[in-house]
Amino acid sequence: MKIGIGNDHTSVDMKWEMVAYLESLGHEVVNYGTDTRESCDYPMYGKKVACAVRDGVADRGILICGTGVGISLAANKVKGIRAVVCSEPYSAKLSKEHNDTNILAFGSRVVGTELAKMIVGAWLDAEFEGGRHKRRVDMIMAIETERE
Ligand code: RB5
Repeated sequence: MKIGIGNDHTSVDMKWEMVAYLESLGHEVVNYGTDTRESCDYPMYGKKVACAVRDGVADRGILICGTGVGISLAANKVKGIRAVVCSEPYSAKLSKEHNDTNILAFGSRVVGTELAKMIVGAWLDAEFEGGRHKRRVDMIMAIETERE
């Protein structure tokens, strides 16, 4: 799988740990994040990865900031993106099986590296179940084109 990864200044070390982990699983990883600890603005990195997933340049995206919250919020503003922030593997797995998430976010200030690997592994192993879940995901995506 081709995976786009993005991060802000809080998560450079975690990003490299995750790149190594993903590559050890045989995935191709494209780095869209910052590589320095100089303070930066997470929305641009969330947007970069989200656009790569939207455009089919990446199959899935992984985003890391202090909490995972801000960077996932930014990603979710891009049409076609379903980004979830998770701190444990169960929600990560179900977010793929039921919600067909295409971006996973987590916080480097919230989870340690080994837990982050378990979260990412559970998400990558999971497959969207379709069926009734597709109807609900379609309802979510239809909100993007609704007018108030
Ligand atoms: C940066 O200090 C921090 O706000 C950011 O990494 C993230 O946690 C935002 O949601």
